[in-house]
Amino acid sequence: MMDSSPADVAADAADPTDVPTDIEDASVDAPSDARPPWQQPWMPGPRARPPAGFLWGSATAGYQIEGQLGNTDWSIWEQLGRVTNNDRADNGPQSFTRWMDDVRALRETGQTSYRFGVEWARLFPTRASWEACRNATGDNAAKIATCRAAASTEGKQFYHQLIDALRSSTPRIVPMVTVHHWVMPDYIADPRMDFRSQGWMNARMRTDMALYAGVVAAEYGEKVDWYVTLNEPLVLVLAGYLDGRFPPGGRLDIDSAITVIGNLVYAHAGMYDAIKANDRTVAEMTGGPIAPAQASYVSIAHHIRAMFPATATNANDVRATARADWLNHGLFFDAIVRGNFDANGDGRIGAGEPSNDPALRGRVDYLGINYYGLTVMRSIAAIPLVGGLPLADELERGLPKSDFGWDIYPRGFEEILVRFGNEYRLPVVVTENGVADSADVNRPRFLYEHIAAMLSARQRGVNLIGYYHWSTIDNFEWVGGYCPHFGLYSVDFTNPMRPRTARPSAMIYRDIIRSGEVTDAQLTAAPAYRTPTRFCPATVSGSGADAGR
Ligand code: BGC
Repeated sequence: MMDSSPADVAADAADPTDVPTDIEDASVDAPSDARPPWQQPWMPGPRARPPAGFLWGSATAGYQIEGQLGNTDWSIWEQLGRVTNNDRADNGPQSFTRWMDDVRALRETGQTSYRFGVEWARLFPTRASWEACRNATGDNAAKIATCRAAASTEGKQFYHQLIDALRSSTPRIVPMVTVHHWVMPDYIADPRMDFRSQGWMNARMRTDMALYAGVVAAEYGEKVDWYVTLNEPLVLVLAGYLDGRFPPGGRLDIDSAITVIGNLVYAHAGMYDAIKANDRTVAEMTGGPIAPAQASYVSIAHHIRAMFPATATNANDVRATARADWLNHGLFFDAIVRGNFDANGDGRIGAGEPSNDPALRGRVDYLGINYYGLTVMRSIAAIPLVGGLPLADELERGLPKSDFGWDIYPRGFEEILVRFGNEYRLPVVVTENGVADSADVNRPRFLYEHIAAMLSARQRGVNLIGYYHWSTIDNFEWVGGYCPHFGLYSVDFTNPMRPRTARPSAMIYRDIIRSGEVTDAQLTAAPAYRTPTRFCPATVSGSGADAGR
């Protein structure tokens, strides 16, 4: 597909900040007579009820809510001025001290599960603490014991008290732990330094992450059964190495992206094995969505988008869409479900690439899927591996928009759940789904439509066992800072107590959980989508193209 090597093309590529303009121009020649597929009318079809023990929850990530994590790659990123309005995670919801308010919100809305992150930099705040763990000797049990002793007492205790409060709620709120949600301690990755030898570029991350996952499983495994190893590994690659928005800020650096994907795939497999080895306790004996109950259920949270060619009759657009779909979606799942790893991303398992590899296959107990909307691909021959780029999210596509400029597209949710559920034949957990909607004018319909779409997918045979809305509360939205508000609960960031207040949609979610259904009457009565009152583009000056989210 390519004449030049990725390195050549990356070096020759125009400044990526030019890209949206190019593709915006390119989009005007789409035929205006035929309606594109994403504009076809849609109503969710017949819907199945959720199974007993269905995990009804919402999700957060440690760095986005806790505060007091100034020892991380992301806190340095903020100091480098890479976040909208110079917003700081430290000024966020302060869940490190106000976590009881989050638990109260979960209880008030009758949620039965909570997905949250356990921060590496919280458990091992200093290089010395991590080195003590990493250099531990002896068998697995001895090493893990040394690591647990080296970890911060305050850090360990913080998550214990949260987990205890969740589990002692009535009804119980089942904890789901994300081991790695993008953020690294500054002694592992410092965005001011050459990134080629650090963070996910370093093969040592494979064993570091496995060790860290083992420590988390040993520390909390008696109380936790549900794990996400890596949050959205491909978003990390895209934003960290291709469009420059996340640390370490690489741009169109295809070679690095390929290296990082390899490290992520093997890190996940190691994390899976470490969790299995170190959590042997069934915490939830009864009532879960999988029987018989197991000591751990492990997956990634994979960001999956409905993808379309900009012009369905343009073979290059179609090819670029298939390539983007494979690289973003299929490649990682195929590696960790089937052991087939397309290490160079060329779309096939070539000689020397792992095939049905016992070191990789079967490392998934459920498919964790994050869904936010659609991506429309336009071919651009010079773009290596993909042969195209996503059109900017903010472009008008005849669909309702969120405050982020993302299209709201519930039909795609149903389709991707059916597609991936059928393809891999595993239970599916929606690990994230949500909308930036500060005024809460669109979230009610969004909730009804997306949960109805999910229950339609269940009716169509997908073994759906959980749904986590993003997010429990408003939080630090990475480069978007505090502009986009994803919370079922708003947070008053001007008040030192950071009070959480239920938005009307929080109570809609509570009622859906109670009834276990979305009726046609609710869908009809839900207020129509409105034009957002605020606009929070996901780019900051100097951060490059918004390629793909
Ligand atoms: C991420 C979250 C993020 C959300 C909204 C997801 O891709 O996992 O951390 O806040 O999207 O952008």
